[in-house]
Amino acid sequence: MKELLKQIREKAIAEIEASDRLDEIRIQYLGKKGELTAVLRGMGKVSPEERPLIGQLANEVRAEIEAALAKKEEEKAKKELENRLLSEKIDVTVPGTPFTAGHRHPLAQTEEMLRDIFIGMGFSIAEGPEVEYDYYNFEALNLPKNHPARDTQDTFYITDNILLRSQTSPVQARVMEQTQPPIRIISPGRVYRADPADATHSPIFHQVEGLVVDKGITMGDLKGILELFAKKMFGPETKIRFRPHHFPFTEPSAEVDVSCFVCGGKGCRLCKGEGWMEILGAGMVHPFVLSNCGIDPNVYSGFAFGMGVERITMARLGIDDLRLMYENDVRFLHQF
Ligand code: PHE
Repeated sequence: MKELLKQIREKAIAEIEASDRLDEIRIQYLGKKGELTAVLRGMGKVSPEERPLIGQLANEVRAEIEAALAKKEEEKAKKELENRLLSEKIDVTVPGTPFTAGHRHPLAQTEEMLRDIFIGMGFSIAEGPEVEYDYYNFEALNLPKNHPARDTQDTFYITDNILLRSQTSPVQARVMEQTQPPIRIISPGRVYRADPADATHSPIFHQVEGLVVDKGITMGDLKGILELFAKKMFGPETKIRFRPHHFPFTEPSAEVDVSCFVCGGKGCRLCKGEGWMEILGAGMVHPFVLSNCGIDPNVYSGFAFGMGVERITMARLGIDDLRLMYENDVRFLHQF
C-alpha cells in the first residue's frame, strides 16, 4: 500500500509537470472516483498498526499533489499574464490619428485684418443694431424721405420706421449723438439689401464704417488714413485714387480705388484690365449730419468712409464669385 501511494504521488507529480490540463488531473487523482481516493477507501484492509502510518502518508501525498497543482496553476496564470502584457503592449510614441481643425472664414479673416489695422491707428470699435430705425439709417444721415435709396426695392422694411440696416453708416449717427469729439471709431457689421444673389451681390453682406470727428479735420487726413490703410492691407506699393461721387451724408464725397496689387496698375484679370479696384466710399461728414447729431459744424469737422468686407476679401484672395463665400463648401474654404 505504501508503494502504491508513492507510485501515485510520482505519477501525479510527473503528469502535473508535463501537462496543462490541471483540472482533469485533479479529478483523476483527488476526485471522488480518483486514484488516491480509491486507495483511501481500501484502508479497511490495512492492519490497525499500519493504518496511522498509511493514513499519514496518504495525507502527505494528497498535500503534495495539491501543492504541485497550486504551483503549476500559479505558473500558468503568470505565463498567461505575461503573454497578455506582451500582446496588448501599447506604444505611446506612435503618432495619433490627426483630426481636422477648422480655421476662420475668409470674411472673418478680412474683418480681423481691418480691425487690427485701424486699432493700430488709434481707432476703437463701435457697434450698432442690425434691426435699425429708419431715422438712423436714413433721416439722420441726410437722406430725405423721397430719396431713392429708401425704396422698398433696396431696403428690407420691418415696419414703416424699422428696417434691416442697409449700411453701417447709422452707427456714425448713433456714436455722434452720444459722444462729443474727438471721435475715432470703426464699426464692422452685417448689412442687408434686397438684392438677388449673384457673383457680386448678396442680400446679406458686411461693411466696415469709419468715422473721425475733431477740430480741424480735413480731406488730407482722410487721404492719409486711407493710404496707410491701403498699404497695410494690400502691400506697401499700393496707391489710392479718389473719384468724385455723391453720398447724401458726406460733402465732398468720393469713391476710392486702390491700385491693383496683382499687376501693379497695368491691368490684369483680377482688376478686369482697369489697373484699379474700387473698394470704398468716403467723404467729409456733411454739416447737416453733424448738427442732426448734436455736434456743432462750425467748431468740428470730420470724415467718414465705408468699405465692403466681401469686396476686399475677393480682391485680397482673387475670388471671383461672392456666392462661394456663403456656400460653406470646405473644398473652397480650405484654400484660405
Ligand atoms: N454707406 C455708404 C455705402 O454703403 C458708404 C459710405 C460710408 C460712404 C461713409 C461715405 C461715407 O455705400
